[in-house]
Amino acid sequence: MPEPDPPPILLFPDPHLRTKARPVGPADADAVRDLAPRMLEAMYRAPGIGLAAPQVGVGLRLVVVDLQRDETRAPTVLVNPEVVAASAEAAVREEGCLSLPGHYADVSRPALVKVRFHDLSGARREVEADGLLAACLQHEVDHLDGVLFVDHLSPLKRNMILRRIAKERKQQKVKE
Ligand code: NI
Repeated sequence: MPEPDPPPILLFPDPHLRTKARPVGPADADAVRDLAPRMLEAMYRAPGIGLAAPQVGVGLRLVVVDLQRDETRAPTVLVNPEVVAASAEAAVREEGCLSLPGHYADVSRPALVKVRFHDLSGARREVEADGLLAACLQHEVDHLDGVLFVDHLSPLKRNMILRRIAKERKQQKVKE
């Protein structure tokens, strides 16, 4: 099989990252089957552990994740994922994002979540996640609503990161 051609990952402040994605419908089946392996390829090359369709400029509720850090790939494709239950207990974990490369911050989220989704064959699935997977799934589902991890930070911390990004972009422009 040929290597899927990975789409470029959009960087903040690209407006696609702030746009709410629409549910995948039956008419999107072919597009999703084409896009999912390409998104996985983009995620592996980055490398990252999760990627949402808006990050490659596609406004569909589609997410790919793979927490494996070694060579054994264990990809999960989530079509129309939904967090249907979340624990009152929170967990703090350092997060980053392929659309805000090089920036990390501690984010507090529910420690346990139940996520419902469809797989690529259309079958309904449900996963109960804790630890890194819980944080990753919530982070990716956020992307589908135009929400970024920096939105979970205090205004002070968020502005620190956004100012650093603005500065980097300015320096980048000077170089160009
Ligand atoms: Ni992200």
